[in-house]
Amino acid sequence: MKDILTQLEIRRAEARAGGGQKRIDAQHAKGKLTARERVDLLLDDDSFEEFDMFVTHRATDFGMADNKVPGDGVVTGWGTINGRQVYVFSQDFTVLGGSLSETHAQKICKVMDMAMRNGAPVIGLNDSGGARIQEGVASLAGYAEVFQKNVLASGVVPQISVIMGPCAGGAVYSPAMTDFIFMVRDSSYMFVTGPDVVKTVTNEVVTAEELGGAITHTRKSSVADGAFENDVIALTEVRRLFDFLPLNNRSKPPRRPFFDPPHRLDHSLDTLVPENANTPYDMKELIGKLADEGDFYEIQEEFAKNILIGFIRLEGSTVGIVANQPMVLAGCLDIDSSRKAARFVRFCDAFEIPILTLVDVPGFLPGTGQEFGGVIKHGAKLLFAYGEATVPKVTVIIRKAYGGAYDVMASKHLRGDLNYAWPTAEIAVMGAKGATEILYRSELGDSERIAARTAEYEANFANPFKAAERGFIDEVIRPSATRKRVCRAFASLRGKQLSNPWKKHDNIPL
Ligand code: HXC
Repeated sequence: MKDILTQLEIRRAEARAGGGQKRIDAQHAKGKLTARERVDLLLDDDSFEEFDMFVTHRATDFGMADNKVPGDGVVTGWGTINGRQVYVFSQDFTVLGGSLSETHAQKICKVMDMAMRNGAPVIGLNDSGGARIQEGVASLAGYAEVFQKNVLASGVVPQISVIMGPCAGGAVYSPAMTDFIFMVRDSSYMFVTGPDVVKTVTNEVVTAEELGGAITHTRKSSVADGAFENDVIALTEVRRLFDFLPLNNRSKPPRRPFFDPPHRLDHSLDTLVPENANTPYDMKELIGKLADEGDFYEIQEEFAKNILIGFIRLEGSTVGIVANQPMVLAGCLDIDSSRKAARFVRFCDAFEIPILTLVDVPGFLPGTGQEFGGVIKHGAKLLFAYGEATVPKVTVIIRKAYGGAYDVMASKHLRGDLNYAWPTAEIAVMGAKGATEILYRSELGDSERIAARTAEYEANFANPFKAAERGFIDEVIRPSATRKRVCRAFASLRGKQLSNPWKKHDNIPL
């Protein structure tokens, strides 16, 4: 018996050593942690239960029969984050560059199946040279099996990808189908074809970092939802995000202890909106002042900054935030901001996370760039997402709510449950200047008359009361009392039941 136990420990040690000390040192020299070190940091102490530690590949070509490492380049299992269950896979770059073989894929699929059956999220730590070249089509098949699981798991359990090294070829498509992608600055990149192929085909000379580094994907392509300085910060931030999320689509988001009174008034909000309607203010200030303990987990901070998305807690419960940001492009909606917010609204709806929408939107961004780029279709994504969402929806119009953008931003007409407005709200088809120029075109030469017309229009529409008279706004509230009103609103909606007509699935304008 003792011999067998010793043998077990020897085999375990062999598996834990991965590709050997030299490759582990090389990994560390690049500022990267190993697959196991990452799992240890991600999960609660001593919570990791590993599976398939002794799995090896079955390939024999290219001398592979003599090149087997137990575990086959991926560490899989489950553990907890602050006591809540999560399934994990972590690719081991020290073993054949973390490349994906048939068996490596089977290990990932196994934990994904368990996650779906048991209703717990999946976090993938990606660090891989892609399909294992020696296995040919078997590794491509392995990828496709993982993709299929990603699709089936979408909307059932949250899926989070962390890119912590190379991620090339088809390898990018598994993360692309998960709910959130985070990258590590300077040590991770994602692209479908690398710089050498790009040079051959398009004659462009580009570095891996420029083509698919964290800056590219958080600022330009929006493929990634955030980027962090190093492995440790990335994993800590993923733990923070995880705490906001429900375990699956049948359970409520977690309720955490809170130390911030829900009825807290904030008098500074009474002067947040400047006198001049064209002067910007920082919407993040309002979000911080509404949230429990001022904690806002922002998603896609670096992309389409004219809209803010992310999570806060109210009375300890997770709430998704969508807010126009007047500091950037006056907070207007455009292609990028519509896409960004639409995907977020759909995530919240899929996982029963209530949505708070803070509105200050002068309209859709005009121009050929937007029209040629398909702003009609992309703007419709956000409209569609809000319209189909059945989770509790609370909206506060802070200042401008003009035109189609008023309708889109979780208006009453899209089944907003409670729609509030600050007294500073302006709800109309368009701003006063544009409206008078159209309505009184013949008087444009007479500046005095035009000024009087503009003032008349402002008096009529630059307030929330016309909308309130029709019941499109449920109540005009004091800015200082916003936290209290919004907390009570969500509290009143805890028992909300609403469903859409039966369908196989909808056809959102993709
Ligand atoms: C097998 C691989 C491998 C791969 C790397 N290795 N990629 N083994 N299959 N795909 C091995 C190397 O042989 C090496 O083994 C070790 O991993 C580390 O690799 P290095 O090249 O020394 O490391 P580095 O210089 O850091 O470069 C990393 C890299 C590079 C940029 C990822 O290895 C690379 O370009 N690999 C190929 C990437 C690729 O084209 N993959 C296929 C994509 S197509 P030793 O024994 O020396 O440690 C694809 C199709 C999927 O994925 C389609 C699904 C639809």
